[in-house]
Amino acid sequence: MRRDNRGHGENTRSVHLPSPSVPQQAPVGLPVWRTSAFSFAGAAEHADLLSDRTPGYCYSRIDNPTSDAFAAALASLEGVRVSDPVEGQAFASGMAAITAVFLAFTGAGTHVVAPSTGFGGTRDLITGVLARFGVESTFADMGDPVAVRRAMRPATRMIWAETLSEPTGAVADLPGLAEVARDAGAMLAVDSTLATPVVCRPLEHGADLVVHSATKYVGGHGDATGGAVVGRMRPMAEIRRVRVETGAALAPDEAFLLRRGLETLPLRVRRQCDTANIFAAAVARHPAVRSVDYPGLPGHPGNARARALFDAGPEGGRYGAIVTITPNGGREAGLALVDAVRLALVATSVGGTRTKVAHVATTTHQRLDDADLRAAGIDPGAVRFSIGLEDADDLVRDVTEALDTIGRAIPAVSVSACGG
Ligand SMILES: Cc1ncc(COP(=O)(O)O)c(C=O)c1O
Repeated sequence: MRRDNRGHGENTRSVHLPSPSVPQQAPVGLPVWRTSAFSFAGAAEHADLLSDRTPGYCYSRIDNPTSDAFAAALASLEGVRVSDPVEGQAFASGMAAITAVFLAFTGAGTHVVAPSTGFGGTRDLITGVLARFGVESTFADMGDPVAVRRAMRPATRMIWAETLSEPTGAVADLPGLAEVARDAGAMLAVDSTLATPVVCRPLEHGADLVVHSATKYVGGHGDATGGAVVGRMRPMAEIRRVRVETGAALAPDEAFLLRRGLETLPLRVRRQCDTANIFAAAVARHPAVRSVDYPGLPGHPGNARARALFDAGPEGGRYGAIVTITPNGGREAGLALVDAVRLALVATSVGGTRTKVAHVATTTHQRLDDADLRAAGIDPGAVRFSIGLEDADDLVRDVTEALDTIGRAIPAVSVSACGG
């Protein structure tokens, strides 16, 4: 309330209620600034703020204190060992964050190199909207910097990688890719959603920007959608500009939940990784299983890179918590396995407290036919598990019983310890 409203009618008094005073003491919980705009003492203050002459907040599409608090918190975790200042920008979803990176640093006539087996949403963006706006692309194995170097062109502005990709568990060679990008004067942007800063911090390995779908492990409870981009100041100024101009801001309620998720991120992710280690080793021994894709298994093609780049932790290696099982018997067996497990939720998304299961060929990769799936290293029977916080013994017992059931229905074709 700017003025005493005692002389006004009841409607005026109702909408001009006294403004809350901002306490001097720092709150323990993060306040949710659920407001679309901020008010000023007068015209000069309003004008100064809008023209960046004074710092502060004016409109939540531009900046909001709760959303900023989330972005700064994630930046502090990604940038813990980076000597330059690291900043974050919060987005309405992981896709909004990914889109902002491409809009900021590519344009008509430029070229990007992206992962051949990466997240389908990013691939669709590159081959769809971005292609329509004249951005060219080549897809390559991000574990093979020689192949990526071959894919580079004079117009290449960006290498887009994923620290860890599902469902295959592919691990990017971040230092190798950083060198290729540097030599070409291009940028290395890395989607680190499935690794989280608990497993790997790409800025320490030469990445220019790190992107997260905070919807997954960062939020961690399946109740908030959001995204973020983190990097050093200079590229982040452009990211902020795109965020503001495209209206891709994260809402304050979501920011509250996502920042709260960060407080338990190491506890959750370490435990999920430990359980995934136990789960993957157990299922790899089951006679109804043809192969297990999990970079923690010694036979996996990404195992050596994961050991080099991922935090080990006192309990042993952390390799993320996505385990993909291919049972014997192809597509039919994969679908049967999804229906036979009891603890895992049949659901989209990964990274929550509860284990989730999905048949890859009919869900996340439904646009690929069997030949395309095989070319991407995915069996039509592959089943993705996002390991949650349940007790490892319970998950192993549940999946073992499910595999026993489908193994009886579908006779074993072959048995192997693990596979890529
Ligand atoms: C690796 C990865 N990156 C980005 C996204 C997109 O995130 P969002 O769904 O929050 O837009 C997802 C999931 O959908 C993902 O799995």
